[in-house]
Amino acid sequence: MAVRHPPGPPDAGVTLTVRPTAAAPGLLLRSWTEQDIPAMLAAHRDPEMRRWLRHPITTAEEGRQVIQARRADRQAGTGFSFAVLQTDPGRVAADLVGGVSIRIAGDEAAAGEVGYWVAAPARGRGIAPRALDAVCVWAFRLPRTRPLERLELIHAVGNQASCRVADKTGFALSTVLPPLPPQFPAEGHLHVRLASHQE
Ligand SMILES: CC(C)(COP(=O)(O)OP(=O)(O)OC[C@H]1O[C@@H](n2cnc3c(N)ncnc32)[C@H](O)[C@@H]1OP(=O)(O)O)[C@@H](O)C(=O)NCCC(=O)NCCS
Repeated sequence: MAVRHPPGPPDAGVTLTVRPTAAAPGLLLRSWTEQDIPAMLAAHRDPEMRRWLRHPITTAEEGRQVIQARRADRQAGTGFSFAVLQTDPGRVAADLVGGVSIRIAGDEAAAGEVGYWVAAPARGRGIAPRALDAVCVWAFRLPRTRPLERLELIHAVGNQASCRVADKTGFALSTVLPPLPPQFPAEGHLHVRLASHQE
């Protein structure tokens, strides 16, 4: 993974890149922009996204609000959200294929929670695990008052694809969470990745 930091706050416009493999495309992870809204909305129309995401985005206005809220989170250090683009050799344009985010309660918090999605046509090629791993490595190295000690990943037990992403990305299963309706009608898995997993 490569990281490019422009001048400014440590995360301002940070770009992460993941090299291609024989089976999977190269990835570029960057902050969201309003130009991403049409592709974001198209991806969020998929029934799996509506089923498993806590807050699927359904209108352009929602998309704008989410992008603005994520900018504010980034400036406050309470969240980092990356658009994931697939880069193909010989093509200048890169297609939006997913999103990865981290929410952190504040600069003193030792833990953050990750979230992710991949657009339906791009699934099954290891995009989520590779993008998530790059974000985890970056987040554990962030200069913070209190460095992050662990990242948490929660998914509904029925979301087996998400459970596979957790397994492939070093998030060990920690606890089976009871249902908490109405937001969490089914049991969940809490997976945890420790900063020490890096070493
Ligand atoms: C979960 C998700 C992010 C996985 O992304 P991905 O880039 O496809 O991840 P992977 O390629 O590693 O595949 C993970 C699993 O998805 C399943 N899968 C494989 N091909 C698939 C395809 N074409 N379509 C859907 N799922 C597929 C397999 O179970 C795979 O596990 P395996 O590698 O052991 O076979 C993606 O399915 C998604 O966005 N789902 C909807 C949103 C969501 O559930 N987000 C997580 C909320 S907790």
